[in-house]
Parts: sequence; structure tokens; C-alpha cells
Amino acid sequence: MAPSAKSVPQHVAIIMDGNGRWAKSRGLPRIKGHEAGAKAVRECVEGCGDLKIEYLTLYAFSAENWQRPKSEVFALMRLLEKFLKEKTPELLEKNVRLQAIGRLTNLPEACQKQLHKSIEATAGNNGLTLILALSYGGRLEIIDGIKSLLRAVELGHIDKAMIDVEMFSKHLYTRYYPDPDLLIRTSGEMRLSNFLLWQLSYTEMFVTPKLWPDFTKKDLLAAVEEFGRRQRRYGAV
Ligand code: IPE
Ligand code: IPE
Ligand code: MG
Repeated sequence: MAPSAKSVPQHVAIIMDGNGRWAKSRGLPRIKGHEAGAKAVRECVEGCGDLKIEYLTLYAFSAENWQRPKSEVFALMRLLEKFLKEKTPELLEKNVRLQAIGRLTNLPEACQKQLHKSIEATAGNNGLTLILALSYGGRLEIIDGIKSLLRAVELGHIDKAMIDVEMFSKHLYTRYYPDPDLLIRTSGEMRLSNFLLWQLSYTEMFVTPKLWPDFTKKDLLAAVEEFGRRQRRYGAV
């Protein structure tokens, strides 16, 4: 049974973890896990569309992931470029609008080019907004937000006495999107790994032991149904 509209989160964020373990358990190189992970992304995007979820943010590559072996980083960047190139027609067909957050200028030139091409191509779509977090770090985002605020103060656009939660939110990468309602992390790890530190303040969390390449529409539905049973209080009674 599909969950009722009221219980459907407007914004789902996912820490797609466990690609490496998925590959290891099959005696495959880690990159094969990332390739299988890309397939799970397709299924998840489709599932979000079916459920009429408005925003889906996927943690695809963290600021800290640059520390991985060069060969893995290189393969991931190639995979990202290929994924965007191949999937853009499908995003268009499914009315998905692509966006990205993170220190995007750290990505290889070819990736940036393809990313902007795909973002531009899908800009007119008004279905699901798919936000890829790339070279993303929550602490870096907050630092970038502070710098942006300071610039606005220096330019005289705002007075520092006016700074509040709402205004600061408007200086983050996520300024155009509502905060996530539901955070899903696969592979059982109970940590945020520097993801959306500011935005997840009152987000409901759902951790599944399933590894990301094994995550299906059914798992998404289970998370959404669990979300529907949660009582959100925001500190009130
Ligand atoms: C998540 O899977 C994908 C990225 C971080 C790019 P991992 O690569 O972290 O997989 P595990 O955690 O090693 O299994
Ligand atoms: C978080 O997973 C980053 C992404 C899913 C892109 P990691 O595998 O990098 O996180 P840790 O190292 O287990 O905390
Ligand atoms: Mg991991």
C-alpha cells in the first residue's frame, strides 16, 4: 500500500554507503560496487518520482573522499561523468531537475562540464529535484556560508544585527531547498560523516543494514512508511 500524501516526506536525503563492502563480499574490486551503486541510484530516483517526493539529496562524494586511493577517486569521477551523460535523457523523460551542492570547482574539468550541461538541460523540469552532493562537506559548507555572510555585511547589504537562522540558511549551498524531512543511511553505520550538518537538525533518521547497491524501491517505501509513523515534535510537547 502506498503511504498517504500527508505522511510522504517532501525532502529525502540519503547517505549512499556500502558500495565497497558490497564488492568485497563478492570478491570484486571496489569500483564494481560503485557501478552497482549507480544502478541503485536510478531505481531510487524512480521510486521518489512514484512517491511524489519533491527533493532527493544524494551524498555521492564527500570532501573527505578525496583521501581515498587515486585510482578509486579517478574511477569514481569517470563513473560520475558517464552516469550524467547517459542518464540525462532519462532525467528529461522523467521530468527530474538536476542540481548539485558542494565545492564543485574541485571536480575534474570534464566532470564539471558534464554536470553543468545536465543541470542546464534539466533546468525546466518541475518534477523531482535531484540534488547531488559532490565534494561536499558540512563543515566546509558552514565556513563558506560564514564567508558569504561576511561579504554581504562588508558590502553593506545586511547589518550584522540582522543575522538569524533564516538568514544564515540563505547563505548555504542548500538555500533553494527545504531541510530534509527524512535521512536514510545504508550499510548500518550510525554517523553523519559530515553530511548536511546544519540542515539535519530536526530530520528523522532511518538506518538500514542493507548495502547501497542492494537498496531497492521497496526499501525506500519501507523508510517512507516508517517516517509516516514518526511523531515530530521539534522540541515542543
Ligand atoms: C559509498 O560507498 C560511496 C562513496 C563514499 C563514494 P563506500 O565506498 O564508502 O563503501 P564502503 O563503506 O567502503 O563499503
Ligand atoms: C559517506 O560515506 C560519504 C558518501 C556516502 C559519499 P563514507 O564511507 O565516506 O563515510 P565514513 O568514512 O564511513 O564515515
Ligand atoms: Mg563507506
